[in-house]
Amino acid sequence: MFVLVILGILLLLMALLWVVYAYREGSRIHIEHLTLYTDGIKKGLSIMHLSDLHLFKNMSSVRLARIQEVIRGNLKKPVDFIFLTGDLIDKNSGIDVLERKILPLLQAEGGVFAVLGNHDYFEYNVLHVFSPLFFLHEKKSTDVERLLKVLKNGGVRVLRNEVLQMTYKENKLTLVGVDNFLQGRYSWPHIQIPEDNSYKMVLAHFPDVIHHIKGRVDVVFSGHTHGGQITVWGYPVTAKAKIRRREARGASIHDTTVLYVSKGVGVSHYLPLRFFAHPDVTMIRIEVADEKK
Ligand SMILES: [Fe+2]
Repeated sequence: MFVLVILGILLLLMALLWVVYAYREGSRIHIEHLTLYTDGIKKGLSIMHLSDLHLFKNMSSVRLARIQEVIRGNLKKPVDFIFLTGDLIDKNSGIDVLERKILPLLQAEGGVFAVLGNHDYFEYNVLHVFSPLFFLHEKKSTDVERLLKVLKNGGVRVLRNEVLQMTYKENKLTLVGVDNFLQGRYSWPHIQIPEDNSYKMVLAHFPDVIHHIKGRVDVVFSGHTHGGQITVWGYPVTAKAKIRRREARGASIHDTTVLYVSKGVGVSHYLPLRFFAHPDVTMIRIEVADEKK
């Protein structure tokens, strides 16, 4: 009996230590670096990719300060673009945090572009984690219109199933933004991808988009998976998307298209834990293929 009590206490202590570790990992933002070589551009590009900020009013001040510090630090050297791939907020109150604490930091010569994620449309609670075990719960809508207004006023161009073509630093670029909830429910929109020689980049919260556009664009930037969030020493238990689990973080190649899945900057309020899936901000270089050493 005594041995069982000691064993119980030890297990409880270990569980407690694990929770403390997993909570703290959520604030340990790493900087990932990704370099892509292509003959589709003439001049190199630099991009900051932020995904899944999950902002809300009472989020950990340590976590918010760290997010700001990392953004500031990595924008000391100007970048050409900043891409935000959804789940900017976790609750409606996150719109104010975004407006006051994050958007003023985001400056990029070529522009700041965003797509929305599921958390930008709905406020989730802990019961949704166990869905469909608990089906008597409604997802509360967020104030998307206000979020869009704040983003617009903050200088962010939100792409809602849009194709944007531009010439930037002699590069012919096509930027595609996928919005899966624009029609009010989760769906795959039909987006006409131009068949020209421009360098094509896609922003999509859900990485599953790769199945619809692989081979037709150069690169897809996405998030949503949180890198598995709670993993078996780095290997995701679930991808939270229709992709292979090992593709739920980092870069993978699909035909001629690179899929890059960020592990995200923040974490949902109802499960603020990460295990071997530390948050990240990705600094991307797209270089002319000839410059490959
Ligand atoms: Fe997310």
